[in-house]
Amino acid sequence: MERLKIKLQVNGEPVELDVKPSETLLETLRDRLELTGAKDGCGLGACGSCTVLLNGLPTRSCIVLTAELDGADVTTIEGLADGTKLDPVQESFMDKGAVQCGFCTPGMILTARSLLNRNARPTREEIIRSMSSNLCRCTGYKKIIEAVEAAASSQAPKS
Ligand code: FES
Ligand code: FES
Repeated sequence: MERLKIKLQVNGEPVELDVKPSETLLETLRDRLELTGAKDGCGLGACGSCTVLLNGLPTRSCIVLTAELDGADVTTIEGLADGTKLDPVQESFMDKGAVQCGFCTPGMILTARSLLNRNARPTREEIIRSMSSNLCRCTGYKKIIEAVEAAASSQAPKS
């Protein structure tokens, strides 16, 4: 089968790959780059567990073809911490007990990170709207929303 050469930036590192036209970004990340933080939940673009940041925006990697991403910038949960320093969203998910089995957590955290990058002080309604596309089977959503609110507070400039 024909393969296509593409170059990506993944978690700040350049990556060159030969990909099949049908290979999804989720397959590339999990099966070829061993970045297994993005989870394969529904495979249909419905649950959000496979969410990564594609050029800074939350994207369902199970329904994106890697062959179409030449030149793109991808951030997975593995690339969010700054060395050993966790991102404030990761910290607040732990502090608020917003993680149970953890299956949805990478997608939740990346969705929240993208929101806070675009809107440092979201209202509760804006947080709920942004996070509503990610499904969690365990925690309910109260602690997740509280964790995003706490992360927003912790990173907001003090006035
Ligand atoms: S696995 Fe991609 S949206 Fe569910
Ligand atoms: S913590 Fe288990 S699915 Fe969300």
